[in-house]
Amino acid sequence: MKTTISHIKADIGSLPGHTVVYEPVVNAVDKYIKENGESLISDYHISHIGDDIQITMVHKMGADNPEIHELAWNAFKAGTEVAKEAGLYGAGQDLLKDAFSGNIKGMGPGVAELEITPRKAEPFIVYMMDKTEPGAFNYPIYKMFGDPFNTPGLVIDPNMHMGFKFEVWDIYNGKKVIMSLPEDTYDLLALIGSKGKYVIKRVFTKETHSKLPDENVAVITTDKLSFIAGEYVGKDDPAGIVRIQSGLPASGEALEPFANSYLVSGWMRGSFNGPIMPVGLNNSMMTRFDGPPRVAAMGFVLKDGKLHGPVDMFNDVAFDFARTEALQMANYIRKMGVFEPHRLPDEDMEYTALPRILEKLAPRFKNIEDKGAKSEMKLER
Ligand code: 13P
Ligand code: 13P
Ligand code: MG
Ligand code: MG
Ligand code: MG
Repeated sequence: MKTTISHIKADIGSLPGHTVVYEPVVNAVDKYIKENGESLISDYHISHIGDDIQITMVHKMGADNPEIHELAWNAFKAGTEVAKEAGLYGAGQDLLKDAFSGNIKGMGPGVAELEITPRKAEPFIVYMMDKTEPGAFNYPIYKMFGDPFNTPGLVIDPNMHMGFKFEVWDIYNGKKVIMSLPEDTYDLLALIGSKGKYVIKRVFTKETHSKLPDENVAVITTDKLSFIAGEYVGKDDPAGIVRIQSGLPASGEALEPFANSYLVSGWMRGSFNGPIMPVGLNNSMMTRFDGPPRVAAMGFVLKDGKLHGPVDMFNDVAFDFARTEALQMANYIRKMGVFEPHRLPDEDMEYTALPRILEKLAPRFKNIEDKGAKSEMKLER
């Protein structure tokens, strides 16, 4: 029988700015799940990164189950009450609808669900990122499941030599495409390099996989908060689940993409490019320029519906270099102030004063009489 891992996350208020969750709020979410989840879920784990509270649940009810989604929704509601009483900043930030209506998707929280046939040993890693967007997973997920320089298992392990299938979403047009690697590698990269538009939603094994044919082995939250709310409500800080070992990336292959820092969009006011920094769970507080953007990783095994772990995977000296590199990159790019490419292009900024500035300046704008300037403008795409 299939088992489902549901990871649902939301920002329901933080202290003092978008810095860190408030413990009594986390406790309220935990208490709600403990007291109301017994008949629905076989185990759960509550965690957090930055200002985002994360609920990992195990159950037999399948993905998109209304009762599971409602349990998480109500837990976040219970936490929001505590956040409001404490006067927390952004209390209930990601709960965009008043009443639950059957599926938590499109209501604000981020959702990643894996419906699996558990193996004898079922190890997996939950990644949590704050101050960035779902496309921040494109690069590491590609590396884990598509790049033999990151994952030598693709070359030397006969059980994964056939490659993997990637489900990519065009989040602007609501379309998806399945790409098969290694055959479609260049086409996949052509899409997912545009990480604000095309995002990897899931990875599947192929039908020819010798150990685990046609199984979902990775999933990322792709919820677009700003689309749902129609206005700035904070960027959609993502989370993901990756199954590992025996025909899948080894634990170390699933961590290797984070050994060097890379640039992601988000950071201050959701409007800047900045380096992602792998951190242990006790270092997940967003400070410098509301960041730098961070990723934490929790290693679990699942047996008979019970979770064992987590192991705090980046809480290790092996990632000190990536942290130092991220801090150096932060120092470098921060000097650029509001100039691109530190600041995001207009269309990707989570909020901007530009329309109001343009309106104010409209009477002062004059036509350029210089003919050269006009013909140059025609050369634009
Ligand atoms: P051990 O020899 O420590 O079990 O490790 C095997 C392995 O495949 C590591 O990636
Ligand atoms: P969050 O998306 O984590 O709430 O952060 C928003 C923000 O504006 C940070 O400066
Ligand atoms: Mg916030
Ligand atoms: Mg956040
Ligand atoms: Mg955010």
